[in-house]
This record gives sequence, C-alpha cells and structure tokens, in this order.
Amino acid sequence: MNNNEFRKLGHQFIDWVADYRENIRDLPVMSPAKPGSIRGKLATTPPQKGEGLGGILKDLDATVMPGITHWNHPGFFAYFPSNTTYASILADIVASGLGVQGMSWQTSPAATEVEEVVMDWLRQMLGLSEAFTGVIHDTASTATLCALICAREKTSNFGQNRNGLQGGASKLVVYASDQGHSSIEKAALLAGFGKANLRLIETDKDHALNPDKLLAAIQDDIVMGKLPCALVACIGTTATTAVDPLKRMAEIAQKYRLWLHVDAAMAGSAMILPECRWLWEGVESADSIVLNPHKWMGTGFDLSAYYAKDPQHLIRVMSTNPSYLRTAQDDEVKNFRDWGIPLGRRFRSLKLWFLLRDQGVEGLQARLRRDIAHAGWLMDQVDKKSDWERLAPVPLQTLCIRHVPNGLKDEALLRAHNLAIVDAVNQSGRAYLTPAVLKGKQMIRVSIGAESTERKDVEALWAQLQDVAQKG
Ligand SMILES: Cc1ncc(COP(=O)(O)O)c(C=O)c1O
Repeated sequence: MNNNEFRKLGHQFIDWVADYRENIRDLPVMSPAKPGSIRGKLATTPPQKGEGLGGILKDLDATVMPGITHWNHPGFFAYFPSNTTYASILADIVASGLGVQGMSWQTSPAATEVEEVVMDWLRQMLGLSEAFTGVIHDTASTATLCALICAREKTSNFGQNRNGLQGGASKLVVYASDQGHSSIEKAALLAGFGKANLRLIETDKDHALNPDKLLAAIQDDIVMGKLPCALVACIGTTATTAVDPLKRMAEIAQKYRLWLHVDAAMAGSAMILPECRWLWEGVESADSIVLNPHKWMGTGFDLSAYYAKDPQHLIRVMSTNPSYLRTAQDDEVKNFRDWGIPLGRRFRSLKLWFLLRDQGVEGLQARLRRDIAHAGWLMDQVDKKSDWERLAPVPLQTLCIRHVPNGLKDEALLRAHNLAIVDAVNQSGRAYLTPAVLKGKQMIRVSIGAESTERKDVEALWAQLQDVAQKG
C-alpha cells in the first residue's frame, strides 16, 4: 500500500467507524453469533497473493460485525464498562501511525515524557499526594501481579536473588477479600505464593472485607510459622462494587508490615470526583494502587494506571540491564521498561492526553456524575417495588438486583427465574446484562457507564426488566 492509498482508505475507515458509532443504537448489543460462525466465514488458508484492502470494509461488515458485542452501545450494562471515546480512538491511530516502541527514554523520549506528565495529571485528578509515581500497564491483572512480586521481594529481602519462589524458611502469605477479583488469585499463583498461601477473607453483609477476620487470619498464620506478606484492598469489587475498609486495613498492614495494594480497577475513575474520595480513605498508606481508565474514564482498552510509593523498589525488582539496552541517558531519565513486566511498550499515554485535552477534568467529572445519578435513579425504582430485591449497596454505578415473584423462597427457582430474565433481555438485543451469583443468590447485575448511555436507556432497561419478569 502506498501513501496515497493509505490516505484514501484511511478516510474511508474513519467514516466507517463514525457511521458505526452513529448507528450503534440499532445493533443488537450482545453478538448473536454462534460458536464457530465467524471462523466459518474466513478462508482456512492465508491469501498467497496480496489483494489490497479495497474489499475489506465489505468483509468487515459481513464477517466481523455479526461477531461483535457492542461495548459502547447505550444498552451495554454488562460486566464493567469499557469506554472508548473518539479522542482515545484518534490517539490510538496516532500511536499506531508513529509505530513507537517506548521501552527506553531514548527509543522515543516523547513516549516516556508524555507518560510521566499525564500520569502526574491523573494523580492530581485522583487527589493522590506526590508520594505516588505513576506508570501505565496494559491491565489491572498485570499491575496486581507486579504489586505482588514487589511485595514478595520486599518481605523476602530479595529472595529472587537467592532461592527463588518460597525458598525461604517461612511461607509468604497474601490476603484479600473473598470478593476480590480473580486477577488477585492469578497474580498470587503466578508470583509463586501458592494457593495454600492465599487467604480469601470473609466479607460482611455489604460484601466488604471483615477486618476482624483479617486480623485473626494473620495471627493464625504467624502462629503457624508463616510470614504475612501482602494485603490487597478492593475498592469497588467486581460483583457488587463493595468497598473494603481501607483505613482499618492500612493500620493492620502497617502493624504487620504487609505490602498494601489497592485494587480500584473500576472505582478508581470515580476518585476524580472529590465527593467519592471517602471510598478510598486511607489510600495514602498504600504501597501500590491500580485503576483502569480503560473501564469508566474513556481511554479505550488498554490503559491501566499503576501508582507506586517506592519506584526504586519497583525498578530493582523489575529491571534487567543487558548491554544492548543501556543508553547514555540512563542516569538522567526514566526507562519505563524497568517499571513493569514487558520490555516493549506502546505509546498508550497519548490516549489519556487526548482524552484530557478533549474533555478536561470537568467534562469527565460530569459524565461520571451522570452515570452515578442514573444508578441512583434505578436504585430508587427497584427499592419502591416489593417484588424486586437489591442485594448490595450502590456506592457508584453498579446494581445487584433480583426479581422475587410472590415472595418465592426457593433459591433454585429464583435462580432459574432470574437467569431467564437476563437471557430474555440479552437475546432481545436491546440491552446486555451479566448474571452473577452472590453468596449463593442468583442476581442480575446492572453496570451503568457506557459513554452513550442516557437516562432514557436506563428507563428503557427498567421497563424491559419489569416486563420480562412479569411474563416469566
Ligand atoms: C476489581 C477488578 N480488578 C481487576 C480487574 C481486572 O482488570 P483487567 O482486565 O484490566 O486485568 C477487574 C476487571 O473487571 C476488576 O473488576
């Protein structure tokens, strides 16, 4: 493809994306594709001769689009949102166009320095002190893995340089709530702690970690000769957006010298709202924090923000220093390859820079407040109905509800009834919900926060839920 062809096609592709976004409301939110149906439309062998991209838009429409679930649809209420704003799309085009690999400062100084600046802007927006320094990771899963590896190396006094995983006399233990995201367990396993050394602490009626149970678990472990190492506090759990008692957990972490990692993957974006910051009171005591602007803030997937209290420790844990990576500026600059797991790094910070330039802090705050108000409205509607039950508080934008017809008590019947409601809504194509089980109870999870979701969409969902529930 030459320059002119790229230019011509590029305009067509931008139009294609803009048309898609403009008409997204008319598409079924959840892809109706059956397993294998997309694969079946693709050739089984690669094209031997290049044919150009002239026909690819047609193939995108015919082959790919039926297999797309529309995360930016106004009827997307599943999982957590994954907003991709126009500003972020344009930034991704620039990042790909530049084709920068920003592993070291020298390999593209702007990639490092824009990241430094926007991560500091974000720190200020979140109300975090200058004690924290930010770096961009791909996902919260990677960030939490980094945190647990840093914790392991701190408690073991750099055991990786000696006997490696659990080679010391005492087994290191990680603590999190039983509502913590599966990425915590995965990170604990990948970091070599072993399942037997991961304690998932019981939660209270609001699904937040019970600090007394945490204390008891730590003390039991000490008696058994284990070494408490890391504590993960969840600010906004995945099932219900429950909020762990961070301040109390920070006191416990300090007393027992635990690494305190805060997983605020979803809820972290809300910390740009001063009125929400009470949710993570105590955060200044954290050793590391992760939040995902790629969930609710508007930077398209993937952009996860990691804040470290002690970057020198992070660098010591993560860096390697082969001769071919050394540069003349190493003593004066940040080489972000030493701040995480991968060597190569995309120019992700452009997404945050573009987004902030486009919307400003106030624009982002307004949208988050809008979503929180939508959730509040829906919560009021649910609470007014005697045949609907709310299973968790609504600190932000996610509701956990279920329909209980005629005071039905049988959990198996309730489960089937509520799963049928979710299935009917999802199959309708008008909205997309995630069913989940919370402490044995089947629930319907409504997570509000697509950029395009307006009050009328939440009202339509509520009307549909009631309608389907009555018919069921
Ligand atoms: C609380 C929490 N932590 C971590 C994650 C993992 O996020 P990622 O996909 O960025 O690894 C999620 C995903 O939804 C989450 O809800």
